[in-house]
Amino acid sequence: MNQILLVSFVGLLIGAYGTAGTDFSDDIAVFGELEGFDIEEGDDVGLFDELSFKSEKGSKVLVNVDGFGAVGDGVSDDTQAFVKAWTEACTTQNSVFLVPEGRRYLVNATRFRGPCSDHFIVQAFTIDSSSAIKVKGLTIQNSQQMNFIVSRSNSVRLSDVQISAPGDSPNTDGIHITASINVVLENCKIGTGDDCISIVSGCSNIKMKKIYCGPGHGISIGSLGAGNSTGIVTNVVLDRAFLKDTTNGLRIKTYQGGSGYVSSIRYQNVRMENVTYPIIIDQFYCDSPTACQNQTSAVEISKILYRNISGTSMREIAMKFACSDTVPCKHIVLNNVFLEKKDGTAETYCNSATGVSKGYVWPLAECLTSSDKDLIIKQTEEVGLAPQSRENLIHTEL
Ligand SMILES: *[C@@H]1O[C@H](CO)[C@@H](O)[C@H](O)[C@H]1NC(C)=O
Ligand SMILES: *[C@@H]1O[C@H](CO)[C@@H](O)[C@H](O)[C@H]1NC(C)=O
Ligand SMILES: *[C@@H]1O[C@H](CO)[C@@H](O)[C@H](O)[C@H]1NC(C)=O
Ligand SMILES: *[C@@H]1O[C@H](CO)[C@@H](O)[C@H](O)[C@H]1NC(C)=O
Ligand SMILES: *[C@@H]1O[C@H](CO)[C@@H](O)[C@H](O)[C@H]1NC(C)=O
Repeated sequence: MNQILLVSFVGLLIGAYGTAGTDFSDDIAVFGELEGFDIEEGDDVGLFDELSFKSEKGSKVLVNVDGFGAVGDGVSDDTQAFVKAWTEACTTQNSVFLVPEGRRYLVNATRFRGPCSDHFIVQAFTIDSSSAIKVKGLTIQNSQQMNFIVSRSNSVRLSDVQISAPGDSPNTDGIHITASINVVLENCKIGTGDDCISIVSGCSNIKMKKIYCGPGHGISIGSLGAGNSTGIVTNVVLDRAFLKDTTNGLRIKTYQGGSGYVSSIRYQNVRMENVTYPIIIDQFYCDSPTACQNQTSAVEISKILYRNISGTSMREIAMKFACSDTVPCKHIVLNNVFLEKKDGTAETYCNSATGVSKGYVWPLAECLTSSDKDLIIKQTEEVGLAPQSRENLIHTEL
């Protein structure tokens, strides 16, 4: 039950439509009502009250691809075995489509389609070294490690993906993206014990739209720069998200001693409820039993735009920009932000961070001082996906 799917798709198109059991499409339809999302309205939260993951019921029927002749040596063509196993799993009540852990299965251009029987589950999923992949309507439940990994890939679109793992399960990032370009996540609902989404080094042109996160550690860029490594993440857009009961909201985390940069990041139309650190840049991230010493080098962070962000913070410090003394964060733009604790208090913390506030911003962020305000605003208006990359993304919808 706790196996990890490790699948290497060299395919062109994967579409598992409507495989998510009976209620998922209703859950996703809720996001449609966020189209007119407005931070001045207070009632958006109600839309999500009924969202909760369905509990597992009954015993499961394991459908193992190896039982259908899959070899998993990374060389043999396992496409037919996957197709047969999928057909079996999809038409069986309470089934789990199981791909044994630790092997590489080569699957060619294939459609894995639903609708499938009720309570159909795929336990974890890796898209590695692939291009032009589309995954739609997939439910992943209770994986022991990272749930859905996209690595070394180009042009990947994940839509209507639902991931649930217990809030207390360690290291279960919901969707983990590494060394990939042109990735779109759309209509995804993630509850986990670690980051809902983590975007790490070598990622560019990542677009996330209509994301629900909670419980979990929020939507993260990083960690980057561990062990003096180089981390680069550019052009990331998050548009329309709701985060509830998460420990972080929008987080960028880097280690001291790293190099590289995080640049051109746009977060917009995000609502948060009961989030411990709603907006956080942490250049002193340290996930290690021993304290991490401050160093002179750090992953540089610049051109970060927060626009239309609202909600409740669990702590008074609703915005935290903890940047390196030697490598300051630059060009942080806050535009229409309203975050506060239930008791109405709110505060911004800055260390070595510069930027500007535009429109309504609460808590005040006067600690973001800057001398070149006009320049900053102009530059951040251009933050986002280049037209060329959009075309690439549309291409995945073959
Ligand atoms: C921000 O919110 C305002 C007011 O609700 C809305 O008109 C605007 O389109 C939003 N901005 C973006 C970039 O979505
Ligand atoms: C994938 O399928 C196509 C068309 O069916 C075929 O030409 C190609 O050789 C296959 N590739 C692999 C790696 O099996
Ligand atoms: C990182 O660089 C610092 C400063 O040069 C050095 O003290 C430290 O040992 C290095 N750490 C690793 C993990 O290489
Ligand atoms: C707020 O979130 C925490 C988890 O971070 C949770 O334990 C707590 O119950 C939540 N509080 C409310 C009022 O929902
Ligand atoms: C590192 O620098 C920051 C900012 O100046 C400071 O708050 C923090 O205490 C320092 N950490 C260590 C371990 O020296």
